[in-house]
Amino acid sequence: MVNATAGTLLMLLVSNLLLSEKVASMPMNVSEAGRSEVSLKDLFDNATILSENITKLSTDMRMEFFYNNFSSRIFSKTLSSLHKKMRLNDVFDKCHTLPIKTPETKAEIRETSFEDFLNMTFRTLRAWEDPLKHLVTELSAMPGVPDVILSQAKAIEAQHKILLEYIMKIVSKVNPALQEKEDSLVWSDLDLLQAADEESRLFALYVFSYCLRVDLQIVEFCIYMLRCLHMHGKICYIESAPSF
Ligand SMILES: *[C@@H]1O[C@H](CO)[C@@H](O)[C@H](O)[C@H]1NC(C)=O
Ligand SMILES: *[C@@H]1O[C@H](CO)[C@@H](O)[C@H](O)[C@H]1NC(C)=O
Ligand SMILES: *[C@@H]1O[C@H](CO)[C@@H](O)[C@H](O)[C@H]1NC(C)=O
Ligand SMILES: *[C@@H]1O[C@H](CO)[C@@H](O)[C@H](O)[C@H]1NC(C)=O
Ligand SMILES: *[C@@H]1O[C@H](CO)[C@@H](O)[C@H](O)[C@H]1NC(C)=O
Repeated sequence: MVNATAGTLLMLLVSNLLLSEKVASMPMNVSEAGRSEVSLKDLFDNATILSENITKLSTDMRMEFFYNNFSSRIFSKTLSSLHKKMRLNDVFDKCHTLPIKTPETKAEIRETSFEDFLNMTFRTLRAWEDPLKHLVTELSAMPGVPDVILSQAKAIEAQHKILLEYIMKIVSKVNPALQEKEDSLVWSDLDLLQAADEESRLFALYVFSYCLRVDLQIVEFCIYMLRCLHMHGKICYIESAPSF
């Protein structure tokens, strides 16, 4: 994954908004949307709403870190020093989900199957299970944490849990084999989050909130594609690709 990913996905999200309007006006294939598929569609509907919600929450939380006096000084300092050194990738490369390969170009998206999208979504969400638990625990123990940030973290953890449950239900319906392999993705920033000095702790929060937001945007896009592919088939590949 390179630095262009976040921007690429934002473009995709925009073009997908256009697509969903188009697709909504197309007649549904009744035989494909028959009885047996109803609950899978419901699961995708709920997962879509939840993933949009949780992405927004993670954006709000990162904004709050930037504006709140609790963290604003270190967050601004970190951002400007990264810009000065042109080292934005340094933060991206710290994300523990980096080994999960995600499509970055039009062509790569077309080569990404329904199962691949599901695999990515499942692995990414599962990789955040422990870190989010630790985030809430550590924030609760950290001096001076504002209520607004703590409650955002708690809401993200709670909604992530529900979203992961939806995805697990989908996985067990569609391809239980995806569940089998244990993942080796390790989040190793707990020490930094527990550090005695404030600057290290806030830097850990900087990286955490950055990676979380990027990953949730990716998950939102994957869930969008999954739902579209399930409902409408291969047309999703033609329309969803950004034109660059
Ligand atoms: C509807 O689904 C059936 C069975 O999957 C398929 O044969 C048919 O071509 C589809 N119709 C449209 C309009 O997509
Ligand atoms: C989707 O969410 C609604 C509202 O929370 C809930 O009533 C429904 O049972 C959910 N559907 C599935 C398939 O989990
Ligand atoms: C979306 O997030 C807000 C804020 O936490 C919450 O109140 C709301 O219930 C969430 N919606 C869903 C569908 O989970
Ligand atoms: C902002 O935080 C600093 C410590 O980081 C503290 O000294 C200062 O009093 C705070 N200002 C306000 C307005 O809370
Ligand atoms: C899911 O992705 C992982 C990592 O890319 C891969 O090792 C695994 O085989 C995939 N699972 C399936 C069932 O495709």
